[in-house]
Amino acid sequence: MLLGTCIILAIWLLLVWTYFLWTRRRYYKAAWQLKGPIGWPLIGMGLQMMNTETFLQYMDKLSHKFKAPFVSWMGTSCFLYVNDPQTVEQVFNSNHCTNKGDFYRFLSSAIGDGLFTSSAPRWHKHRRLINPAFGRQILCNYLPIFNAEAEVLLLKLDLEGVQHGKELEIYQILKKIVLEAACQTTMGRKMNFQHDGSAAIFEAYNGLTEVCVKRMLSPWLYPELIYRRSRLFVQQTKVVGVLRGFVEQLLSPIVSVVDLDTSKEPLQQESKNKSKSIFIEQVREHVERGQLSWQDVRDEANVTIAATFETTSTALYFTILCLAMHPTYQEKLHKELVAELPPNGNISLDQLERLSYTEMAINEAMRLFAPVPMVLRSAAQDFPLRRDDGDFLIPRGTQIGIDIYNMQRDERVWGPLARTYNPDAHFGPEAPSRHAFAFVPFTKGLRMCIGYRYAQMLMKLLLAKIFRSYRIITEARLDQLLVKGNISLKLSNYPLCRVKRR
Ligand code: HEM
Repeated sequence: MLLGTCIILAIWLLLVWTYFLWTRRRYYKAAWQLKGPIGWPLIGMGLQMMNTETFLQYMDKLSHKFKAPFVSWMGTSCFLYVNDPQTVEQVFNSNHCTNKGDFYRFLSSAIGDGLFTSSAPRWHKHRRLINPAFGRQILCNYLPIFNAEAEVLLLKLDLEGVQHGKELEIYQILKKIVLEAACQTTMGRKMNFQHDGSAAIFEAYNGLTEVCVKRMLSPWLYPELIYRRSRLFVQQTKVVGVLRGFVEQLLSPIVSVVDLDTSKEPLQQESKNKSKSIFIEQVREHVERGQLSWQDVRDEANVTIAATFETTSTALYFTILCLAMHPTYQEKLHKELVAELPPNGNISLDQLERLSYTEMAINEAMRLFAPVPMVLRSAAQDFPLRRDDGDFLIPRGTQIGIDIYNMQRDERVWGPLARTYNPDAHFGPEAPSRHAFAFVPFTKGLRMCIGYRYAQMLMKLLLAKIFRSYRIITEARLDQLLVKGNISLKLSNYPLCRVKRR
């Protein structure tokens, strides 16, 4: 009797397993054609990929062992790994690859479904409505805020770095400046992060990305039922609480003005028109027309602030660090700044646009240290892929990982100096021409970063202000830096820098 039951159970399990494999036959075909590492049943490459400290280095090794793009497994998801410009171009330009990877749902379940994580049709609608808020004309309105924040930054560097002679952890200072600028340009609120205790908010932003990445790299925590019983979920609840409170605090005066707005008092109307220059005032019109809800605005505000502050401060920090490690390029940059800018005073858009070497220095740092090291997409439909050895079909539902970090420092793409910081060799007028998709820190195509002009403007302005008046020095060396693969790039240790007045 017992033996009979066992046999029936075994046959049943075999049938279920066969059916499971049968439904996934198209993924196995893709994996067979585009051979990559297989990993373990059910968890795939989860074990090898779960370490954020070594993940990017591990993927780099694999990309030298297997011909990219190749197929691997994350949990039971079929995962197409991409790190060559030809395939990157096909993915970014495909209408079938605009949806974010399934793993982004971990991020959206934590901070809400804003542009960064959302998929069609919600993404299409929101992107169309929000795009104008990042137009060139609107961004010009932000220049006074950026200039004022640059002054706060210089004061801080001067006081702590020059007068007190301290070695500084510049990344922490930059994060506060960029978050302050983001709060002012997005919500019109001055927060005074340089003076007020803001540690909890920074910790919460860091904690949030860490929690989400840990979950992405731990396939056994994918099922909601298991995740909600894990220690990681307790940590997520804590950080999300802090961030929700923060965004609510930023939004509350605006929401209450809108509620009052139904009375259309002339005074409020006037104050509304005055502040049309900030993001929230642009978006508020969509709420009034019923195109967006306040919950949508909360989600977008949350994501916009997080996307602005994490990425821009990371890119800025790496540019400063690279210039501090390479005094020759710092001097070249200083020459340009002396030629183009007065010793002090506000920087105008015209002046910013003339700073070509500053732009090269930023691009070179973003090439070597991609602020968003990897982006994930999901194939919404079957998607034809061309590789130099043939055409392949990528099945609907495949998760696609675009490894920007490793592609942008790959000798096969960038030549022998790929892993060195050298703005002239890679972005100078004499630099060899590269594939248009070899450098994609903001990605390209329909889903390209909405804030790239904002970021370029803010970074150029802050760098110009710093290096026009100060010299930054560090003992760190490029080959000693240990990067970590988070949503935005991190270092295991942040080297200290010294600041000298010019
Ligand atoms: C150096 C700074 C920045 C870098 C390197 C960067 C990079 C990126 C990347 C790689 C993406 C993902 C795009 C994709 O999946 O194809 C993205 C999306 C996004 N970024 Fe940025 N970003 C930066 C600054 C900003 C700023 C300043 C803002 C806002 C003011 C912003 C807002 C967004 C938003 C809303 C999205 C989602 C866009 C969409 O999916 O439609 N980013 N960014």
